Amino acid sequence: MILVLIFIAVTLSMLYLKWKYFTTHSPIPSLSPQFLFGNLLQSGVLNGVSPPHILAAFKKRFGDVFQFWVGPSRFIIVNNIVDVEHIFTHRHIYDQGDIFIEKFSVSYPNSLISTKETLDGEDISKKNELLRALRDMISSIMPIIYLPTIVAKIYVTLSLRQRRARKVIERYIDKMIQHELAASSESVVQRKRTSLIASLVDALQNNQKLESIKSEEEKKGKMQNKRIRLKFTDHELSCFFSYLSIGLSRDEVLDEMVAFLVAGFESTSSTLAWFIHLMSKHPQVQQKIKTELMNDNNLQRLSLDRLDSLIYLDCVINEVFRFCPPTTGTIRTLTIDDRLPSSDVQLFKGESVLIPFHNLAHDARYWSIDPEIFYPERFLGEDKNHHPYALIPFGGGHRQCIGQELARFELKVIAARLMQYVTFGDGGIQVNAGGHSVGLAVIPKHVGVTIDVTE
Ligand code: HEM
Repeated sequence: MILVLIFIAVTLSMLYLKWKYFTTHSPIPSLSPQFLFGNLLQSGVLNGVSPPHILAAFKKRFGDVFQFWVGPSRFIIVNNIVDVEHIFTHRHIYDQGDIFIEKFSVSYPNSLISTKETLDGEDISKKNELLRALRDMISSIMPIIYLPTIVAKIYVTLSLRQRRARKVIERYIDKMIQHELAASSESVVQRKRTSLIASLVDALQNNQKLESIKSEEEKKGKMQNKRIRLKFTDHELSCFFSYLSIGLSRDEVLDEMVAFLVAGFESTSSTLAWFIHLMSKHPQVQQKIKTELMNDNNLQRLSLDRLDSLIYLDCVINEVFRFCPPTTGTIRTLTIDDRLPSSDVQLFKGESVLIPFHNLAHDARYWSIDPEIFYPERFLGEDKNHHPYALIPFGGGHRQCIGQELARFELKVIAARLMQYVTFGDGGIQVNAGGHSVGLAVIPKHVGVTIDVTE
């Protein structure tokens, strides 16, 4: 009897799960999702086909708006630029994607990304220790995204590798916090204007014990402030912190710093890998960067003014971002029902839309020069005034990347230095075939270049 009851309960649960998560309820076109896998098997994600390629193929087949199931999570993919602009400019309708909140809060529950609302003097092996820990942490993100959240939480809690990585990262961040706390108040005032870490540490609660025994009302006030704070840019944010006596708990500062390290690590390094790969394929572009760098007699010096003057290099970096956006896209969840203005598709509260960066950057409707050609000069001429939402490697609207200026600056400095001293050559059709390998970022799968060093 008990066995029969268990059998009925399991069957009913499975039927419910199938109906709730794996059935097409909406008229928006899609591939009918498979039980437990959604579209992951059919589309080839689980066999290594890259999400940008899959989203491009789906767009060809289904048009500008279609559905895609990542396991049980359903996304509405929006490719029309007028709709994309509408989404990014209506933050009160389209807020941070629920999936970010669910999944990122498994690893860093206190960071802003999971709410609606220089390593100096270290020896190289220690740096590698941090890099290894960051890599370990990043490697867990894809399973976390694909697994049901409850299983992901168990995995992160039980995984020895994850716990070790977290400990190493915390140790380094603790050092950064101590370093910031030791700084004089004058230097803090100065550095807070440009350093997110300095402003975060300055916002640490003076007395965490006192904060933890605050009444629910006071805490609610703090949560409201936390929501308000999302409306500000990072500089305004740091000023805002200064005027609030609330402060951040150590856990909040720690998780925010982990989020910065994780978000800024693979994204920036993969862009650099794409830069190297694309330079090796386009010697004439390298030559033009070198010519621009030689316009000044003082070859070695790279002052801020000098960097600012490198206009062609800016175009190359933009073209690298356009040709191979380092992330697949971003997600927003609807807070109320809405209708997309151009495609006229009806969306409902709680649904999530995904904006595919690669599709927008390669959509011939939005570019004058063939988007399949790597051609930095487009930004000096025909595509100078491209639609702003056709190229959004850092997302858009109120949740766009907080580290984008830093990332662009880092890339420009490194690219300029590389071009001063080395020339990349194509290492051969197979070893330098490119292709996508997707983790947190879209990384070139095969990069094999020759390196000529200039004396
Ligand atoms: C080439 C480098 C980078 C790329 C391509 C990139 C891309 C992105 C994208 C696409 C988003 C989502 C934006 C949206 O939803 O509209 C994002 C968010 C974020 N990025 Fe970056 N990023 C890069 C570097 C960095 C760096 C260096 C940092 C930290 C210093 C950073 C910190 C963050 C954070 C904290 C968020 C979450 C913002 C929020 O939820 O409000 N990123 N990034």
